[in-house]
Amino acid sequence: MNSKDFPKVELHLHLEGAAPPSFIRGLAREKGIDISGIFNEAGHYAYTDFWHFLKVYDAATSVLQTPQDYYRLTRAVLEESAANGVIYSETFLSPDFCGGRDVVAWRDYLSAIREAAEEAERKDGIALRAIVTAVRHIGPEASRETAICAAETAGDFLTGFGLAGDEKMHAPKDFVWAFDCAREAGLRLTAHAGEWGGPQSVRDALHDLKVERIGHGVRAIEDLQLVDELAEQGVVLEVCPGSNIALGLYPQWRKHPIAELDRRGVRVTISTDDPPFFHTTMTREHDRLADAFDWDEGQFRTIHRTAARAAFCDEATRDKILSRLEDA
Ligand code: ADE
Ligand code: ZN
Repeated sequence: MNSKDFPKVELHLHLEGAAPPSFIRGLAREKGIDISGIFNEAGHYAYTDFWHFLKVYDAATSVLQTPQDYYRLTRAVLEESAANGVIYSETFLSPDFCGGRDVVAWRDYLSAIREAAEEAERKDGIALRAIVTAVRHIGPEASRETAICAAETAGDFLTGFGLAGDEKMHAPKDFVWAFDCAREAGLRLTAHAGEWGGPQSVRDALHDLKVERIGHGVRAIEDLQLVDELAEQGVVLEVCPGSNIALGLYPQWRKHPIAELDRRGVRVTISTDDPPFFHTTMTREHDRLADAFDWDEGQFRTIHRTAARAAFCDEATRDKILSRLEDA
């Protein structure tokens, strides 16, 4: 199988987290900002653990200051995704970074990102939808403003609402207002859980926030009753194996629970999370999974069909993605 050209659907990608280090360095130079401390000698992002990663992420993001910066970022990210065979992508956006949760400013950022997405669709054949994401460690109060930004701009491009950030801070129930607001605006829901928190964190996200997808969710494997519940309810996991391995959640690819979750009937999908931070691409994820679990083209096709069915997009777009998966 040519894993680079194989058509892929990616449901879990943080737009700032996908910024190539060279792109961030270039913007920093243009603006006269010194963020040299976040890179190692080879020019890669350097961090020691997940919590340090979040700080480095914020520092890199600090050079993204205008809608035009996000336009350029979106073009760069989608070009790289398309080069790795991604035909449909969903990206997390945070009004915290884009205009400080001000609805008027946020509209300008979202328009710039959408314009870049439409150009990428025409030029590279990759479709993008956006998921507004509240940042857990910024807190529940801010999440209300974030949800209002999302609700005000919900539509055919901005189709989802989610929760990312430090899973050890606050509880899903603290974000119920924001998720109710997003749901009432017609947005589809997902939340990061079961990455730094265990099975109870996944249960809480499902029961309190009533999400249909879980970001990561891999630590559900520590409770087989929960695994059965996920399988029975058809909850889709946005699994990011290379991210989990780079951040030390699992020591090696063979120890990653994605294959066991799949065997037990859970709907798993494959994403990169923050690819340059984790030295990965969608191509590399496929190569490593094929090596670790002997997965063949049929297995990957099934997984991308699952992702297409779980995508937060309109039915015409879904049909188009599904037929591109079948034709390949
Ligand atoms: N934000 C960016 N990447 C993240 C991750 N892997 N977990 C939680 N929040 C994030
Ligand atoms: Zn993530």
